[in-house]
Amino acid sequence: NTLISADPRNNSSPLQTFVKAKRKINDIFGEIDDYVHDAVQYITATEGNDDLIQKSEAALVEEYVGKVTGIREVLKRDHMKVAFFGRTSNGKSSVINAMLRDKILPSGIGHTTNCFLQVEGSENGESYLMTEGSDMKQNVKSVGQLAHALCEEKLGESQLVRIFWPRDKCLLLRDDVVLVDSPGIDVTPNMDEWIDKHCLDADVFVLVVNAESTLMLTEKNFFHKVSTRLSKPNIFILNNRWDASVSEVEYIDQVRSQHSERAADFLVRELKVCSAKEAGERIFFISAKEVLQARLQEQKGLPAHSGALAEGFQTRYFEFQDFERKFEECISHSAVRTKFEQHSQRGKNIAVEVRDVMEKVYERALALQKEKTYLKKEVYDKLNFTEQQLMLITQEMKEKIRFMVEDVEQKVSKALSE
Ligand code: GTP
Ligand code: MG
Repeated sequence: NTLISADPRNNSSPLQTFVKAKRKINDIFGEIDDYVHDAVQYITATEGNDDLIQKSEAALVEEYVGKVTGIREVLKRDHMKVAFFGRTSNGKSSVINAMLRDKILPSGIGHTTNCFLQVEGSENGESYLMTEGSDMKQNVKSVGQLAHALCEEKLGESQLVRIFWPRDKCLLLRDDVVLVDSPGIDVTPNMDEWIDKHCLDADVFVLVVNAESTLMLTEKNFFHKVSTRLSKPNIFILNNRWDASVSEVEYIDQVRSQHSERAADFLVRELKVCSAKEAGERIFFISAKEVLQARLQEQKGLPAHSGALAEGFQTRYFEFQDFERKFEECISHSAVRTKFEQHSQRGKNIAVEVRDVMEKVYERALALQKEKTYLKKEVYDKLNFTEQQLMLITQEMKEKIRFMVEDVEQKVSKALSE
């Protein structure tokens, strides 16, 4: 926690856009859930009253209970995912460690990444790993132990190992970023399987290339394949090991602009995933090794540049921070759009459809009420009429009886006198 609160980027991070949007959409779906439950409760109360609600309408509203629960589950788990690719030894694991500000992933000689490693925040502040297809949480106390545990497992190169790390140790993890490391793309015959298994839900891809060489065909092919499966993937290109290039090459500016042009050409003209202007914010020249080293020094309270560093360290450090900022803006916006837009629309539709049903029920209830009042009046009038009729009839009868009685009386008296 001290690490996070000491970080000046804490709440100004662009990742907060995602975090806030996630909180908001979760709250809204909580309200939709209440609304749907209320509607179902009402419907259950009027069960059997077919004049009021049709069976199909009741079924429609009841079905939404499960659907809303499902969406809420997905929303709770939603995160931003970034996947790192590149040829072996280009520094993928080192870049992730630099971003996490700690030596979490094994890197370097003897620590070739041989399966997919996904680093994510753990809920309970513990660190452990889980392998694919198993629920067992294996405790991990240190990087050495993690490396050992990974060697122990017989893992296929497409398999996924999830590494859970305390959220409060890193801003990215706290803000729901999940980072995926991969084996070198030059060592796999299974690119299609990789893409299907690990890439389709990634919000951002980071291609880590070696600044000492040039963009390789295997690296290009991989992203050509990715962009046939995903429309306009967000791709960053990191020219890593820039420290090594700087100290060796005489015409360093020319090398830089040549690498930049090729990388931009790849993104803009070949993959058509961004504009030339955007490409300028997607290509960086960095040294992951230096950044990690500097950050470890800073955490010990020492100045960032206190290790043995090559010339131009400060500029490369700034460029790495610039990359992180652009990356955070990109992943946050992209994830909000892809993960929440559809759900917002879905939530709106559910609310509208439930309202439509309830409105129809209300209209029918009103109509029924009106009909009853009218009926009451009709019956009343009828009763009145009958009463009058009855009175009339009674009157008539009375008269008739009187006549009869009089007639009889007359006849009797006549008979008597005769
Ligand atoms: P695999 O997992 O084997 O595919 O490699 P990787 O791409 O994960 O590379 P990793 O991070 O393991 O780095 C390979 C070696 O390059 C390590 O010895 C790192 O210390 C070194 N390295 C990484 N980044 C830099 C850098 O910016 N400059 C220099 N000079 N060395 C670096
Ligand atoms: Mg690696």
